[in-house]
Amino acid sequence: MMQDKTVLITGASTGTGLAMASALAGMGASVLMVSRDPERARRARDEVVKAATGKPPTTLLADLSSQADVRRLAGLVESSTGRLDVLINNAGAAFRHRQLSVDGIERTLATNHLGSFLLTNLLLGLLRAARASRIVNVTARMHTNGIDFDNLQLEHRYGALRAYALSKACNILFTYELARRLSGSSIQSNCFCPGPTETNFARTAGGSIRVLESVARLIGVLRPVEEGARTGVYLASSPEVANVTGRYFRNGKPARSKPGTYDESTAARLWEVSDGLCRLGNERNRTFVSIAPMAS
Ligand SMILES: NC(=O)c1ccc[n+]([C@@H]2O[C@H](COP(=O)([O-])OP(=O)(O)OC[C@H]3O[C@@H](n4cnc5c(N)ncnc54)[C@H](OP(=O)(O)O)[C@@H]3O)[C@@H](O)[C@H]2O)c1
Repeated sequence: MMQDKTVLITGASTGTGLAMASALAGMGASVLMVSRDPERARRARDEVVKAATGKPPTTLLADLSSQADVRRLAGLVESSTGRLDVLINNAGAAFRHRQLSVDGIERTLATNHLGSFLLTNLLLGLLRAARASRIVNVTARMHTNGIDFDNLQLEHRYGALRAYALSKACNILFTYELARRLSGSSIQSNCFCPGPTETNFARTAGGSIRVLESVARLIGVLRPVEEGARTGVYLASSPEVANVTGRYFRNGKPARSKPGTYDESTAARLWEVSDGLCRLGNERNRTFVSIAPMAS
């Protein structure tokens, strides 16, 4: 079903990303696995090789919180493939204390939202080169209802959970706005929440997120990674959702995200702010100009 399809997955060295990479490689897809650590990337690739029924996976290294790295990654992808059928923006992190990225941006926003925003924009040409392509953003049910643009980078009242939930609302607003901007094109944009899943996430994040994970484990709601990955694999591959765009999914079904994420003016403003923070500049012409609806 996924033979001849090229799929790029960020955060593919562990957890949900690795499980999606294995499942899609098992369906015959050619998988580009983005990781930031060479050793973890090698171990993850070995695992995906065992599952692959098509071309062996390729690993690419990039720290998504660094805009220079994202630009370098997009260049590498462009030079290694002529088209992209599926882009899964899965990498995500949370930080106990407020930190800045190398670009001087609050690190949760830089990693979880701006990394995906920039990478997607830079890869739109390759996505358009596929006959029909899909963008799948990994978000979380734990997202904020709106965005306080005066405190987007949480200079005030920083908390790991607050920063994480805000970045996950950005993922949803971005997904919906992207679907609107791509309307009439052959590219779909959807997002999903994997649900409480047994991964490294909470261990790496620590603090209140670790506490939440312990509670989820205690009450028995943590699911295995294969289960957490299932909706992502479905959105990336199923013919059932071939014409679905601009939706949020949970447990394999469309669901409602928080009301504030449907606000189109918030989404448009977030796009402009993100564009400015990523300094898209001339690159913008290279991306959306080529996204005009296809002539019939
Ligand atoms: N687990 C859950 O319960 C849950 C619930 C809802 C949503 N989610 C979402 O699911 C997604 C995947 O998380 P997971 O649960 O599978 O956790 P995970 O095992 O920690 O995976 C996160 C991945 O993101 C990568 N990553 C983090 N920061 C990065 C950066 N700066 N540059 C490049 N890659 C980076 C990590 O790479 P390293 O291996 O190098 O750290 C890792 O491969 C995230 O977007 C998360 O928000 C998870």
